[in-house]
Amino acid sequence: MSTLFCNSNATESDTSCYQPATLASRAGVEADPAHGAVMPPLYLSTNFTFDGFKGKRPYDYTRSGNPTRDTVGQAIADLEGGFGAVMTASGMAALDLLFYHVKPGELIFAPHDCYGGTHRLLQHKAERGYFRVKFVDQTNLDALASAFQQEAPKLILIETPSNPLLRLTDIQAVCGLAKAYGTLCAVDNTFLSPALQNPLSLGADVVVHSTTKYLNGHGDVVGGAVVSKTQELHQFFTWWGNCIGNTGAPFDSYLTLRGLRTLEVRIRHQEASALRIAEALSAHPAVSRVYYPGLESHPGHELACRQQKGFGAMLSFELEGGEPAIRTLLKHLNLFSLAESLGGVESLIAHPATMTHVAMDPDARRHAGISDQLLRLSIGLEAPDDLLRDITFALNQVAHSNRVKIA
Ligand SMILES: Cc1ncc(COP(=O)(O)O)c(C=O)c1O
Repeated sequence: MSTLFCNSNATESDTSCYQPATLASRAGVEADPAHGAVMPPLYLSTNFTFDGFKGKRPYDYTRSGNPTRDTVGQAIADLEGGFGAVMTASGMAALDLLFYHVKPGELIFAPHDCYGGTHRLLQHKAERGYFRVKFVDQTNLDALASAFQQEAPKLILIETPSNPLLRLTDIQAVCGLAKAYGTLCAVDNTFLSPALQNPLSLGADVVVHSTTKYLNGHGDVVGGAVVSKTQELHQFFTWWGNCIGNTGAPFDSYLTLRGLRTLEVRIRHQEASALRIAEALSAHPAVSRVYYPGLESHPGHELACRQQKGFGAMLSFELEGGEPAIRTLLKHLNLFSLAESLGGVESLIAHPATMTHVAMDPDARRHAGISDQLLRLSIGLEAPDDLLRDITFALNQVAHSNRVKIA
C-alpha cells in the first residue's frame, strides 16, 4: 500500500519519487512568476494577448488551454502516473471525449453494470451510428476472452469497482487481453481515485474520472478528467477537447485543485468509517446482503487486496421488506442525505433503481443485478460513531416494522 512513484534508481532529488500526498500538497506551489504567490493563482481570463504579431504565447484562449486548468490536470496526471490530463466540464464529458478515440463502425466493450449515465451515453451514441457497443460482464474473464475472439473492440472501458454493485474487474488481466488484440484500455477510476488505485501501472492506457467525486471531494464542482499514459494519447485528447469545447472551467479547476490537496486524508478516513458501517450492516437482520470489497465475504476481496491500495468508501446493500422498508429507513436517517453523486465530505444514500441508474432500461438494470431493494452509501467525513448510530437506529426501525408485518 505504498507509493508507486519510487523506483530503486531514484535519487534523493528525484521528484518522480514523491508520494501521492506530497504531489497533491505541492502541485503548483511557488509557481507564480508575477508575484511569487505561494499558492497558484486563479486565471479566469477568457483570452491571453499575443506577444506582438505572430507572437503566440503558451496560452491564447481558455477553451484550448488555461494555466489554472493545466495545474490541476498535471497534478491529477502525476497522481495517476500519466503523461497528462485533459480536464473536462463533467465526468460524462470525459467519457464522451474518450469515445472520440473510436470511429463509426468500430466497436467498444463496456461493463454491463456500469454507471447509468455511461450506459445511456454509449447506448444512445451507438444508436446514432457513432460507434458500436457491446455490454459485457468483465468479471468473467473466460466469457470476455471469447468475446474478444469473436471480434476485438477498438476500445474497452473498465469500471472497477463498479457503480453501484462494487464488482471488481481484474485490470491487469483485462488490459493484458486487450493489448494482445491492439485494443485501447481505459479505466473509470472514479470510485477509488488515484489515492487507492492506479490503473496505468496495471496496464491501462487511459484513466477517466468524474472529478465531481473524490478528487474535488466537497460537493461543489461538476468536472472530469481524461488521463493519458503517453504523450501521443494526451495530444489526441487535448486536440479533441479543444475541438468540441468540453474542457473544464478555470474556477472549477481551482476548486478541484484545492480539494485534491486533501484527497489522501479524506479517503483514508472515509474508508475506515465505511468498513465499520459495512460490518454493522452485515450483522443487521434488516439487511440481506452487503456489497463492500473490504469484507472478506466479498467475491472480489482478494483481487481488491492485490490491485487496490485500499477498499474505498462506497458500499451498497439490499434491504429486507420492499418499498415500505426503504421509506422507513429514509425517514429515520438524519446523517445520510438522499441524493445522487458521491465522494464528498457529506454522507449520502441513493436508491440506484430510481436515481443514479434510472436511465438504464429495466431489463438492462435487472441483467446487471441492480435490484429495487438496493441502496448505495457514500461515506463522508462525519464522526464514524455518529454515522453508525444513525444508520443502526434507522435499520432497527425497519427491522421492527418488518417483524410487525410478519406477525
Ligand atoms: C463511475 C462514474 N463515472 C462517471 C460519472 C459521471 O460523472 P459526472 O456526474 O461528473 O458527469 C459518474 C457519476 O456518478 C460515475 O459514478
